[in-house]
Amino acid sequence: MAITMFPKITLFIATFVFHSTIKQPSLVFGSDPDPLQDYCLPSPHTHLCKNSSSVTVDDFVFSGIKHPGNFTNKFSGVPVSSTVFPALNTLGMSLVRADFQVGGINAPHYHPRATEVAYVLEGKLYSGFVDTGNKVFAKVIEKGEVMVFPRGVLHFQMNVGDSPATVLGSFDSQNPGSVKLPIALFGSDIDSELLEKAFGLKSKEISKLKKRFGIKKEE
Ligand SMILES: *[C@@H]1O[C@H](CO)[C@@H](O)[C@H](O)[C@H]1NC(C)=O
Ligand SMILES: *[C@@H]1O[C@H](CO)[C@@H](O)[C@H](O)[C@H]1NC(C)=O
Repeated sequence: MAITMFPKITLFIATFVFHSTIKQPSLVFGSDPDPLQDYCLPSPHTHLCKNSSSVTVDDFVFSGIKHPGNFTNKFSGVPVSSTVFPALNTLGMSLVRADFQVGGINAPHYHPRATEVAYVLEGKLYSGFVDTGNKVFAKVIEKGEVMVFPRGVLHFQMNVGDSPATVLGSFDSQNPGSVKLPIALFGSDIDSELLEKAFGLKSKEISKLKKRFGIKKEE
């Protein structure tokens, strides 16, 4: 991983120099670092790039999103990040396949490290996000349309059609991360008293929510 440190340091210095010499408001740098080689398939033990003599075309092909994943509550998400598709390592992008049965939702969540462009392959979805001023941008989008969800911003989708829906999301990070609000809040070990105070709910109600979302982190 040491190999990927350089761009970060350069970026940091560049950002510092830039901000100290030019007055330009709200210009922010932030993305995966640029690659220093054509590709970098991490070797299992050292995590350094594999010698290209042991890399094959199959390393660059991933077949795991031909079909929907396993459904939970009418929703299935199959991330294609560098974790499952190592060829993406150092390349700064990844995908997710999301499938919705009729009425299924992708609960409010955000990706801390990436902007997402979501392309509707099939179906009709109420789709949107809420900005940091609590303004909601949401509407029904359908097959062939895309919607963008800015990095780190809370977003959601619901199949409002009468047939299954499929979305392909693309990210400008090899590892966007995903924080699902219901699970992060009620499926984690945050102290119940704090949650009671935060939501103005009784202990019993928090216990119920904890029971419902008590699935541990997915990614
Ligand atoms: C990569 O493997 C080839 C063939 O085994 C070898 O000749 C070459 O020196 C290796 N390169 C590096 C950088 O280890
Ligand atoms: C779906 O569930 C099966 C059985 O638990 C598991 O083997 C498989 O890897 C899962 N598929 C996905 C895409 O998560």
